[in-house]
Amino acid sequence: MNKSKKQIPALITIFGATGDLSHRKLFPSLFHLFQQDNLDDRIAVIGIGRRQLTNDDFRAQVKASIQAHVQDTKHLDKFMQHIFYQPHDVNDEASYADLLQLSETLDQEFSLEGNRLFYLAMAPQFFGTVTDYLKSSGLTRTKGFKRLVIEKPFGSDLTSAEELNQQIRRSFKEEEIFRIDHYLGKDMVQNIEVLRFSNAMFEPLWNNKYISNIQVTSSEILGVEDRGGYYESSGALKDMVQNHMLQMVALLAMEPPISLHSDDIRAEKVKVLKSLRVLPTEDVRHHFVRGQYDAGQINGQEVKAYRDEDKVASDSSTPTFVSGKVLIDNFRWAGVPFYIRTGKRMKRKSIQVVVEFKEVPMNLYYQRDKHLDSNLLVINIQPNEGVSIHLNGKKYVQGIETEPVQLSYAMSAQDKMNTVDAYENLLYDALNGDATNFTHWEELKSTWKFVDSISDAWSKFEPEFPNYKAGTNGPLESDLLLSRDGLKWWDDIQ
Ligand code: BG6
Repeated sequence: MNKSKKQIPALITIFGATGDLSHRKLFPSLFHLFQQDNLDDRIAVIGIGRRQLTNDDFRAQVKASIQAHVQDTKHLDKFMQHIFYQPHDVNDEASYADLLQLSETLDQEFSLEGNRLFYLAMAPQFFGTVTDYLKSSGLTRTKGFKRLVIEKPFGSDLTSAEELNQQIRRSFKEEEIFRIDHYLGKDMVQNIEVLRFSNAMFEPLWNNKYISNIQVTSSEILGVEDRGGYYESSGALKDMVQNHMLQMVALLAMEPPISLHSDDIRAEKVKVLKSLRVLPTEDVRHHFVRGQYDAGQINGQEVKAYRDEDKVASDSSTPTFVSGKVLIDNFRWAGVPFYIRTGKRMKRKSIQVVVEFKEVPMNLYYQRDKHLDSNLLVINIQPNEGVSIHLNGKKYVQGIETEPVQLSYAMSAQDKMNTVDAYENLLYDALNGDATNFTHWEELKSTWKFVDSISDAWSKFEPEFPNYKAGTNGPLESDLLLSRDGLKWWDDIQ
């Protein structure tokens, strides 16, 4: 990350600091920011957890996590001097009084200017309680800024999301709330906007006149791991589509913003999300496919069926795969399907966007034995990071035979090393008060409305699960979704 080294003093209080997210993502990212001089020296982090740990116990744990996730650990001991621990019971008023005292002491000691960032890396059922106490205890009454960073899931449908929003809005204003969607911290996701709006060659073609369809895939090899309990009530639709997938669609479909100010960018994203066609129940099955993995083989290893995973019901109807045809009812995109696809235990880990262009109006050329290939713009988000353009060129033989030509750009290893994780970008932005890459309440309202219409329709019919083998690209119906439109998923393309 090559930031302009804007450094802000702040106290970062992490609730759920002994959890997996904190150890795998938050502390390694904070350390890397510190090491790269993207964090001010005037910084202190309080880790909050239920367990009775001393500062030293906690520091030893954090140090071990950082060593496991970051290669170069120069300045690690210096960073550790900024880390503190506070045992805490989220339902106990006295815990917040202790936290206030520690916060004030650290504020003095590190000259933090009263800036406070509260990060809730915990189950959302505690969000309301914690934010209410943060206010009543006086923790949010500070002379600097107060900000709240929260993890998903933000509700389980529109109604519960609205309730949750009302709860946290009692203590924080909308502009003080930073709702994490970690896909928005990925460099190549951020690059979608840059590619579109800083190159003269894409924008004129970026509409229903020239684009046939856009495919957005996020496939995983992993299963539900140890998150069966959470995943059973969520499934791929709420876990991935409501947030990450629709956010990528919004970035691909939005109009050019009038400035790079977060309000202007969000305004354009909100317009797209409001234009998503909400389907009547009877149409959902023609546009959306749900799947659940069966036992199968991945990289030569046998893996079990979803229903045999820990904390999963043996007759579970939770989808671990979703693909769908999303329609955007506006002038630019009328008639252009956005196909989205996400699933667990698929053939490969890949986050990729493929923009397929329409055929040339009059084709004079041919490719031996087959139809001329479409032009494609491929945006590789993970694990490969880069962009490629697929064209047709002349084959070096006599005649007018063509062959596919690929122009590729891959992000360099050096660029990749600048950021250890998407969380690093997001933590930096939250500290700097830049809300561009966080989800606004208006975006959530539209995405939940869209997703609710699909889950309501699905709740009326029992699915025939399992319906895809682990290690494949999902159920057959997902392929049919495109072949019915005379199209195919561009698998195996880079
Ligand atoms: C999370 C989901 O938001 O994203 C997980 O809860 C999923 O189920 C993960 O595995 C995928 O993230 P990434 O960055 O590995 O594509």
